[in-house]
Amino acid sequence: MSLKGRNLINTLDFSVNEQDEILQLAEEMIAEPKHFMHCMDGKIMASLFFEPSTRTRLSFEAAMLRLGGSIVGFSEQSSSSVSKGESVSDTIKTIAAYSNLIVMRHPKEGTPLIASENSSVPVVNAGDGGREHPTQTLTDLLTIKSIKKRIEGLTIGCCGDLKFGRTVHSLVKNISRYEDINFIFVSPEELKIPNYLATYLEENNVKYKEMSVLEDAVKEMDVIYMTRVQRERFFNEEDYIRLKDSYILDMQKLEYAKKDLTILHPLPRVNEISYEVDKDERAGYFKQVEYGMYVRMALIAKLLGEEK
Ligand code: NCD
Repeated sequence: MSLKGRNLINTLDFSVNEQDEILQLAEEMIAEPKHFMHCMDGKIMASLFFEPSTRTRLSFEAAMLRLGGSIVGFSEQSSSSVSKGESVSDTIKTIAAYSNLIVMRHPKEGTPLIASENSSVPVVNAGDGGREHPTQTLTDLLTIKSIKKRIEGLTIGCCGDLKFGRTVHSLVKNISRYEDINFIFVSPEELKIPNYLATYLEENNVKYKEMSVLEDAVKEMDVIYMTRVQRERFFNEEDYIRLKDSYILDMQKLEYAKKDLTILHPLPRVNEISYEVDKDERAGYFKQVEYGMYVRMALIAKLLGEEK
């Protein structure tokens, strides 16, 4: 099935083959960006961010501009008529009349899905509450593929806030579809992966284990995916303060790690990775930022069916 006209709301919306096509196009775009400079000429992307963002919003916008397209949108709820009480469905019907593609981030889980049901143009979920973040997963996959030259057969550690971290939820579900993946989850007891995700892994016979000491866990990992404790999803500030610095990756802990470990983080980083680690050649998180733009260029081109 072609990706033209499709929505991307959940990380499993595209098959592994369809997803591989996006990653492959992103690689072609990295190699020959000039070939794609005009493929979105005359097209408009609406970027609707109801929650803060640096990388996701700016990488989507830069991606559209680099393909020759234009952008409209807003970066905070207060600047749209939603603040006057307009419903999501009315907002989306309006914006779909002005644009060819809608990218939406929203604090309320499921809002991008409702948007897609009311839109005549494709809708992409750029993060909905603590649920999913499928384009971050495309970014993570492209980064892993580029650095490791494969996705299959890797031991992937996820560390930090695995309960509220939407990037982890999308990544774990998605990567589970590749052969021979092992997960190691490291988190405070209160921030363990949600039950539905553990059940999903068990039902699909994906191997995982939970560990509490990062020095022990990191020894086995090929990739470590560090995450920030998601302050905005906590009910009380005291719990956040108690848990926020539970795991900090520093050079001392990295002494236990493999020489070819890849360190990823969707960013923003708060304290989870010491700044000294940035100089280590295993740090992949700033490369990941760059890949995020290319993979979104490829996604936009595929959804609008304009790859050349
Ligand atoms: C993540 C997000 O928004 O979920 N950031 C991002 O999109 N790169 C991670 C986070 O906010 O911790």
